[in-house]
Amino acid sequence: MKIHSCRFVCSAYRAEDDPGEPGSDVAFLGRSNVGKSSLINRLLGTKGLARTSSQPGRTQSVNFYRINESWNVIDLPGYGYAKVPLAVRESWKPMVEGLLRRRRERIALGMLVVDARHVPSRLDLTMRDWLVEGEVEYLVLGTKADKLSGNGRARAVRTLRETVGASTRSEPILVSAKTGLGMQTLWSHLDDTLGGARARR
Ligand code: GTP
Ligand code: MG
Repeated sequence: MKIHSCRFVCSAYRAEDDPGEPGSDVAFLGRSNVGKSSLINRLLGTKGLARTSSQPGRTQSVNFYRINESWNVIDLPGYGYAKVPLAVRESWKPMVEGLLRRRRERIALGMLVVDARHVPSRLDLTMRDWLVEGEVEYLVLGTKADKLSGNGRARAVRTLRETVGASTRSEPILVSAKTGLGMQTLWSHLDDTLGGARARR
């Protein structure tokens, strides 16, 4: 797929603040600071579209982006960072869970982003459970893979498979926003998914 246009639509702070743009959604979820926003920028070839930060917990809203005026990327706020104020952490669950529930039918693909260098946390597994319970198709992405050696990468895929598990679609996929590793694989899934969604309409 060629990207002709990407634009920021809005930030939502409550599940009800849904912009209601038509078309399929691709939703990125994962812990704070794992690299969701960086991955979105790399995938779309847009440096500053999704705001990134070395400070965890930066994205505290759900951010919507419109691609080719036909489908949407949703950057969900990161979770599981202790320094984020308690009030924010408490509002996170109903917001993300509510949004997933409201848009369930429209989410063509969930991207569960996990740090390839670490063993997935309980929260990563909770997030996977939401996707499974919501019957949302998803991919498991092990990111920051540029920081791993060849052996480390093989081990990371194994760990992801044994903890988060393979998704409905594929084995865990290693990616890097820094080097672009895995982007072609992601695009082939996106082309299949979004092409298929268009054909069904
Ligand atoms: P929140 O918005 O807080 O949930 O974080 P996020 O998941 O959107 O992470 P973000 O994209 O802001 O990246 C966090 C930090 O990780 C930044 O310092 C990025 O430069 C770095 N980072 C992201 N992806 C990669 C990657 O693939 N490789 C390396 N080496 N660093 C990365
Ligand atoms: Mg972010």
